[in-house]
Amino acid sequence: MVRRVLPRHSSELTWRDYLAILAPRPATLEEAWSGLPAQARVLPTPTGRHALWAFLEEAPLKPGDEVLLASYNFYPVVQILVQRGLVPVFVDIEPQTLNLDPEDLTRRISKRSRLVLVTHMFGHPADMDRIGEICREGHLLIFEDCAHAPGTLHGGAQVGFSGEGALFSFGVYKILNSLGGGMLVLSGPEADRFGMPRFPVRRGPGSLVEPLARLLFSIGSSPALHGLTLHPFLGFCERHLPGLARTLDPTDNDPGYRFDPAGRAPFRPFMAEMIRRQVARLETNVARRRAAAEGIRSRLGRHAEDLWLQPDRHGRSNASYLGVRLPDAAEGARLCREQGVGCREREYLDCSRLPQFAAWATECPESKRAEEQILRIPSYPSLSDSDQERVARALLRALQG
Ligand SMILES: Cc1ncc(COP(=O)(O)O)c(C=O)c1O
Repeated sequence: MVRRVLPRHSSELTWRDYLAILAPRPATLEEAWSGLPAQARVLPTPTGRHALWAFLEEAPLKPGDEVLLASYNFYPVVQILVQRGLVPVFVDIEPQTLNLDPEDLTRRISKRSRLVLVTHMFGHPADMDRIGEICREGHLLIFEDCAHAPGTLHGGAQVGFSGEGALFSFGVYKILNSLGGGMLVLSGPEADRFGMPRFPVRRGPGSLVEPLARLLFSIGSSPALHGLTLHPFLGFCERHLPGLARTLDPTDNDPGYRFDPAGRAPFRPFMAEMIRRQVARLETNVARRRAAAEGIRSRLGRHAEDLWLQPDRHGRSNASYLGVRLPDAAEGARLCREQGVGCREREYLDCSRLPQFAAWATECPESKRAEEQILRIPSYPSLSDSDQERVARALLRALQG
């Protein structure tokens, strides 16, 4: 009997979402996000990374300016800062939310600090009240990384609109998936000064491969198919074609990574229509994700206290990623996978210790601990009661070692 593998991610797209490709009058991104704050502009970009790149191009920053950001982070974001001649200043995280620790932020601000980049890691809202206060006092700009955060609320409102800018990502592994794409949000008083982001586009037959691969990946990670297609395929690649596996589903740090503005297909109009269809059910899906997470937590009994983070400490998490803390995430991951539960250790890294950022190395003990201990486990709307039971059992097994 083939045992169904529980993927750690499920795309949750329906065939109706894919039909947006054929929509005669696709929505615009503004229409997709009904109820946008009045001052906000939303601009399409090929990926979330491109949104940050475009923001930095026009923001009032000069080479050598310092950008403060959480050390536990998505390392390509740091690489983009470096490529733009900015100086990353690593700040430690709160252990409960995995987000920028405001108290450590105050310690690391200097005369050259210009921007604070706040990531709402795993969809947990960061402490925007305190961070906002610190930035106002220090005349610092704020850019929010909302790659994980559609549906994440702070003070009852969608995060991403309280600083000068924000990025959103619509990649195939994100909770709003338009087969790639991203969005730059501009909310500051200077928003109108920014031009429409333009990126060089690669032409030729090769340019079709990447969008097509994303379409196949997305279909393959639907709830019905993932366990039968993508998961075994990735497993095969990990065993026999490790190079390809890392390209398809990268986990490890790649010190040679460079952001390439021409490296991705452009944002196409149908993508905004796909986003509109998913935004319409975002609230329902967030509620179901949160219920799935709660279902797992409630099955852990007294162990929940050791394993669980505090995703709602500063608002409402969208439960887009569910992370738990184990004594050793790598060993926990091995035991979970043995039981057919998809998961990922070292989903994010303590960037202050990465070799390519050695020039800016500093001690961030909580970020290091998060890299070693946080395990990402499944949390998606279609996770059934018996799936939740399976995840909880695998975690308890992982805790016992
Ligand atoms: C925290 C974080 N920031 C930024 C990004 C960038 O998004 P994209 O892959 O669309 O460039 C990601 C993508 O995984 C992410 O996880």
